[in-house]
Amino acid sequence: MPTKTTKNSSNRAQNGNGARRPAPPDSARSRGATDTFTIPGLSERDARATASTLQERLVSLIDMTLTLKHVHWNVVGAGFISVHEMLDPQYEAVALMADATAERIAALGESPNGLAGSLVANRSWDDYALGRAVVAQHLLALDSAYSGVITSHREALAHIHDLDPVTEDMLIGQLGQLEGFQWFIRAHLENGEGVIAKTSAK
Ligand SMILES: [Fe+2]
Repeated sequence: MPTKTTKNSSNRAQNGNGARRPAPPDSARSRGATDTFTIPGLSERDARATASTLQERLVSLIDMTLTLKHVHWNVVGAGFISVHEMLDPQYEAVALMADATAERIAALGESPNGLAGSLVANRSWDDYALGRAVVAQHLLALDSAYSGVITSHREALAHIHDLDPVTEDMLIGQLGQLEGFQWFIRAHLENGEGVIAKTSAK
C-alpha cells in the first residue's frame, strides 16, 4: 500500500528521529558547491591564517615533548630523581597541548602535520644540544627551550587575537601551563636572591 504523502514532504529533509532538519547556514562554505569546511562564522581566510599559525605551534609543541623525554632519559648526577620525575607530567601536559592544537587545525578545516619530516623541515631552531649531562646543565638548556616556546606562543597569540577568539583562548591556557613549567625549572636554578647563573658546573 503506497504511503500517503503531504504536499511538501518531498522538500523536507528528515533526520533519524523524524524531526525536521534545520536549514543549513548560508555561509560561503555551506552552499553545496564545495566539500571543504571551516568553523561557522569564521571566514575561510581567517581560518587558513589561524591554522597556519597553529601548525607552527604544533611543530614547536611536539619538539618540546621530544626534548622533555630526552632530558628525562639523559639527566644524571645529584638531584637526578627529582628532575627525572618532574619531567614526566610536563611531557604529558605538553603532549595534550600538541593534541589540542592539531585537533583545532582539523576543526578549522585544515590538515595538521605532526610527522617527523615536517617537524625538521619547518622548525627554525637546532636540535637540543645536550646528551647525558648533569642536572644543572640540562635545566639551563630546558629553561632556554621553554623561553623559545613561550616567546613564540606569545607572538602567535598576538596574531591570533585578530582572527579567532576561541583559538586565542586555547593558546592563553597553554601559555599559563608552559610558563608554570618554566618556573618549575627556574626554581631549581635560582639562588636566594632570585638570580640564575648563566653557566653551570660540569
Ligand atoms: Fe620514564
